Amino acid sequence: MKFLVNALHTVLGMATLCGALPGVSKERTGPALEKRANLQHISDFGSNPTGAKMWIYVPDSVSDNPPLVVAIHGCQKSANYYYANTPYSSLADQYGFIVLYPGSPNTGACWDASSQATLTRNGGGDSTSIINMLYYLLGNYGVDSTKIFVTGSSSGGIMAQTLSATYPDIFSAATVYSGVAATCFESAAGAVNAWNATCAQGNIRGTVAYWMNAAHDMYPGWTGGYPAMRLYHGSSDTTLHPPNLYEEIKQWTGLWGYSAIAQENQTDTPLPGYTTHVYGDNVQGVWAQGVGHPVPVNGDQDMEWFGLGS
Ligand SMILES: *[C@@H]1O[C@H](CO)[C@@H](O)[C@H](O)[C@H]1NC(C)=O
Ligand SMILES: *[C@@H]1O[C@H](CO)[C@@H](O)[C@H](O)[C@H]1NC(C)=O
Repeated sequence: MKFLVNALHTVLGMATLCGALPGVSKERTGPALEKRANLQHISDFGSNPTGAKMWIYVPDSVSDNPPLVVAIHGCQKSANYYYANTPYSSLADQYGFIVLYPGSPNTGACWDASSQATLTRNGGGDSTSIINMLYYLLGNYGVDSTKIFVTGSSSGGIMAQTLSATYPDIFSAATVYSGVAATCFESAAGAVNAWNATCAQGNIRGTVAYWMNAAHDMYPGWTGGYPAMRLYHGSSDTTLHPPNLYEEIKQWTGLWGYSAIAQENQTDTPLPGYTTHVYGDNVQGVWAQGVGHPVPVNGDQDMEWFGLGS
């Protein structure tokens, strides 16, 4: 697959504009680095408007200019849960990338995907706090700005969508395990961390244009490309109901200029009972027949999608 390479050079420029970072350095120094190959807490990473927690995993085998995978937990879960129950840290051992595990500051440990603050670039919501964690890693760990990826499950998947639409210049590719389209969880009242039952039940239906505009409004004026997007959803999902998959597909195929009708359907891919719908090189929807919420993380597939596995 082809990766988006446009505009990633702006990352460092933006970091400078934000005034929050020292220059990017290849040196990895400081007390946080003494104990690698464990989950580490970083307490002061810069501006943190919502009080989100920052945890990282830096493998002993970390590459020079390492890629970065942002791996985001769902409701009632934690950074530590996601570290312990997903394969990203062992894949990091294998391939030398850093994993950032953000921790939700909200009641119920969901991510805010409903307030205007989080749905707006640099709006001061959870999405901004997570991006500032990422800038910290760019500034202090020599992360390769062209190899930044995001993934998440459930509410973490919704946040992965939110980040992909608000910071499309930062992320090369994303995978989403059982999320909803960016802005679908919006709160009409502007509430933070609100549950949007209409969206959850699969009853927010929009045209391709509706979903594209919704994403564009999160980063007005952006004319560059968007992250490559692979979207998983289970047919038996009773938390974020299955029609959400097609709404996500309309959004990301629209942003990529693809038809929302799959060009190729790969049955029993990547697992028996799953069908991978290919809309173009950079957008796929994976329908997991009989699977509930959320679809289990498929680490090897993520490595392939991110181009990290070889
Ligand atoms: C749920 O989200 C939709 C946008 O997806 C919005 O139009 C609607 O007002 C939201 N519902 C509530 C109760 O805020
Ligand atoms: C793939 O499946 C979808 C329905 O899920 C269908 O609309 C589309 O035409 C199929 N594409 C091909 C190439 O068979």
